[in-house]
Amino acid sequence: MVLSKRLKSIAGLIYETDKVIDIGCDHALLAVYLVKNKILDYLIVSDVNQNAIENGIKNIKKYKLEKKIDARLGFGLEVIDVHTDTVVISGLGTNTIIKILSNPNLKQIKKLIIQSNNDHFLLRRFMILKGFYISHESVVYEKGHYYINIVFSRGKRKYSLKELRYGPMLMYANKDYYEFMLKKKHAILDNIPKYKLFTRIKHYKDTVYLKKLTK
Ligand SMILES: C[S@@+](CC[C@H](N)C(=O)[O-])C[C@H]1O[C@@H](n2cnc3c(N)ncnc32)[C@H](O)[C@@H]1O
Repeated sequence: MVLSKRLKSIAGLIYETDKVIDIGCDHALLAVYLVKNKILDYLIVSDVNQNAIENGIKNIKKYKLEKKIDARLGFGLEVIDVHTDTVVISGLGTNTIIKILSNPNLKQIKKLIIQSNNDHFLLRRFMILKGFYISHESVVYEKGHYYINIVFSRGKRKYSLKELRYGPMLMYANKDYYEFMLKKKHAILDNIPKYKLFTRIKHYKDTVYLKKLTK
């Protein structure tokens, strides 16, 4: 099977000792890849949508992995096991991710690998408040899109607002990504009417900072 570069980048962040649930698994391709490549022996996959979990089950059956991939229907952390200590969430927006993680079961989770579609500032801030720090960040480019992977681990660290906004690790490393963001910002600025002065200033300040990150 061929796994997208985006999902493969997540697989690379999982250790064989992690007790994983992939929340919002849809087709369960990441799980199939993890087991077929002997990265994990067993994991749980879940989805809140009946059709999505059925898609997952079809793939699990296709590769005869029913004993190794446990597919569950349900909302986020509600379906975890007592042993689960690692959460993967990809392809969802930050608001939904926050809803999923605002569950008492988060207490037993030691590590989260999150590839959110948007608002990484809000995500970082939420996770820090929940008692995690950022142990890894990376950017993956595929088919015209940049995807951000953030690994959160248990522990306390302080971050500046800029670090929460641009990523404490990403802001020192990923010039290509910030060039892309800068172009997007310019396009946004071009579309803000001149009379919306405060909005223009806010976005302009971002472009100044992004320019620094591309140098
Ligand atoms: C865009 S797909 C992403 C699939 C896969 N994780 C990926 O990255 O390719 C998002 C999936 O998350 C599921 N989902 C949305 N909210 C959820 C929740 N609260 N709990 C579990 N699954 C959820 C959706 O049904 C959908 O199948």
